[in-house]
Amino acid sequence: MPHTHPSALLAIAQKAALEAGEMLKDGFGTTFRIDNKEGRHNLVTEFDHKAEKHIINCIKAQFPDHIFLAEESGATGVPAETVRWIIDPLDGTVNFAHSIPIFCVSIAAERAGELLCGVIYAPMTDELFIGTKGEGAFLNGQPLKVSSTDKLDDAILVTGFPYNAWENPNNCIDHFSRFVRMGLPVRRLGSAAIDLAYLAAGRFDGYWEVSLNSWDVAAGKLLLQEAGGTMTQYDGAPHNLHTGTMLATNGRIHKEMSDVLMEQR
Ligand code: IPD
Ligand code: CA
Ligand code: CA
Repeated sequence: MPHTHPSALLAIAQKAALEAGEMLKDGFGTTFRIDNKEGRHNLVTEFDHKAEKHIINCIKAQFPDHIFLAEESGATGVPAETVRWIIDPLDGTVNFAHSIPIFCVSIAAERAGELLCGVIYAPMTDELFIGTKGEGAFLNGQPLKVSSTDKLDDAILVTGFPYNAWENPNNCIDHFSRFVRMGLPVRRLGSAAIDLAYLAAGRFDGYWEVSLNSWDVAAGKLLLQEAGGTMTQYDGAPHNLHTGTMLATNGRIHKEMSDVLMEQR
């Protein structure tokens, strides 16, 4: 059977992300059910579940053979030559639960470990970030390109902290303090997918974080690659979607950021 063209995958991912984003926008600021996942501060709302269900149904209706790795419902099937969808239905749940309008839907498709397309939709700003492997990335139709900042000293950075920061030895706090003490602006938006989309759009110059899941990163990684950015582990080793540290930059400040992250103190 011939492979589905990535543009057909992108079309359905866009549709699913826009519709799920609309559901989240409708729910934003209303009263809804909030539960804890592992850990007191790792929340899940009824809208995480609703959005995920909608996305999966939408994709299944078009591609019944495809398999899924979705944050709330887990994994289906065995990834081999089949397209696998990696879905975070609501990235930025803690923001959403506190009526902070920084959150998004993140959907990516991969086959045999290769990312084929990615969509990140931030409904409150109505920003749709899309990308297809080898064909570029776009924000509401405009081509995405990483920033041209070439010195760490001139950079604006973003990061995030794991939900279990108090027990996680790799908690980003020392690294956060290093960059802040260098006098750099460092933001913490609370949505890894938005962090990556903004990096791809040239709004941020560098981003580091640990303990992310593949659904936080998959679509953003594809967008960043297509926008000319670089993603590795802290030491420059290849980044693996499913584990490890992540350093993502415009490429130009990558070595400088890696040196700060790797320095033994
Ligand atoms: C979280 C956000 C946050 C990151 C956490 C993620 P969620 O995802 O992306 O920025 O720091 O590690 O788990 O729980 O809002 O989908
Ligand atoms: Ca997430
Ligand atoms: Ca989520």
